[in-house]
Order: sequence, then C-alpha cells, then structure tokens
Amino acid sequence: MRLLITAGPTREPIDPVRFISNRSSGRMGYALAAAAHEAGHEVILISGPVAISPPAGVRLVQVETARDMFEAVQTHLNSCEVAIFSAAVADYRPLDIAGQKMKKSAERLTLELERTEDILGSARAKLGFSGFLVGFAAETENLITHAQDKLQRKGCDMIVANDVSQAGIGFDSAENEVTLCLPGGRTIALPKQSKAALARVLIAQITQLSAPQVSP
Ligand code: CTP
Repeated sequence: MRLLITAGPTREPIDPVRFISNRSSGRMGYALAAAAHEAGHEVILISGPVAISPPAGVRLVQVETARDMFEAVQTHLNSCEVAIFSAAVADYRPLDIAGQKMKKSAERLTLELERTEDILGSARAKLGFSGFLVGFAAETENLITHAQDKLQRKGCDMIVANDVSQAGIGFDSAENEVTLCLPGGRTIALPKQSKAALARVLIAQITQLSAPQVSP
C-alpha cells in the first residue's frame, strides 16, 4: 500500500528573518512513517521544518509553508491509498510579507493574518481523494465531541484525538495518549505509550480498517 503522511509544523514568514510557527517536533508523523515502512508500505512523507532525521526508506518531501504543504499534498495525494495528516499546519499567515527585515519603531505592532489552506478539509471535495483519510485533533476540552465533529465535517475515516491540556503527551513530547474516533460514534482509547509504539498500533489499525471488506 502507498501512504501519504504530513508531519511537523509549517512556518509562515513575516519578513526575510521572522516567521510564525508552533511547537510541533514532527515526532508523531516521523514515527508513523517509520512504522508504515517497517510494515512493508511505500511512504511519501511531506514534512515542515523539523530537527529530526527522516526514517530510512521513505520518500521525503520538505516544505516550509502551509501553501507549500497544500501543493505537495495536491501533487501526491491521489497516488496513495491512505493519507494521514499529522502535521500541525498554521491556521493563519501574515497577509503581507515584508520584503526587507522590519525595523522596530512604534511601541505596538499589529500583524494582520489570513487563513491558510485547510489541507485536511480539502482532501475530499477539492482534491477528490477517495482513499482512507486520517486526521489528528488536538483539543484542550470536549475531546471526543470535537473530534467526532471534525471526523464528519472533513469526511475522515478516522480522527486520532489527543488531549493537549495534559502535560507530557502530544506536542513536543516523546509519548502520546490518544483516542481513535471512527464513524458511527465508535471510539478506541489507546494507552499512553511512546510515539514509536503508538505509531505501530496506529498503522496496524489503519491497515486493517482500510482493507477492502471482503464478504464471506
Ligand atoms: N490541518 C490541515 N490543514 C490546516 C490545518 C489543519 O491539514 N490548515 C489538519 C491537521 O494536520 C490535523 C487536523 O487538520 O490532521 C487538525 O485540525 P484542526 O486545525 O484542529 O481542525 P479545525 O477543526 O479546522 O480547527 P479548530 O479546532 O481550530 O476548529
């Protein structure tokens, strides 16, 4: 099977030396890519800037901004059977990018931001993806309700939901604890474990659920 995986943060430039980004380390997406490769799948890993090395044997496409990530996904999505969107894509970017380094002057500065492309939300209707679609949801409250809503709104087959209000899991951590949200309100809670171990469980679940249903 061929999988597309997005990972890491995006960087949205303010001027030639500054950007808006987030704390995503890319570890969950890279662990998923490694686990999928280990399981014998072909992997296209579309990654924002991270400080970790890509797993051996995966095809790495490096991107910087949400727009770059959208374009890379557009190029590769429909050659894949499964797409896992684990990237922490910036939701907003500066409306104007200064051509030169901005000099400080006034005491206050307001940056005007505009929405970025919703890559996961575009996969179905805009990009015509008909494979198995997995999104991530990082929430600080009402985890399952928000994740089930995201599953429906974005046409996903699975949402990997994690509660980012808990210290030591999720963003920029070595471990994660997630609940899988599936159509029909089904949920599967997975225990806290390393991102590498969790990635193997997720790839096994996704492989099983995305396999064509053969009637007896
Ligand atoms: N995502 C994406 N493109 C974006 C933003 C998010 O592909 N511009 C993907 C992430 O990779 C992740 C999921 O969408 O799989 C996270 O969604 P999130 O941004 O939390 O969803 P929304 O419901 O749009 O956001 P909010 O919780 O802010 O309502």
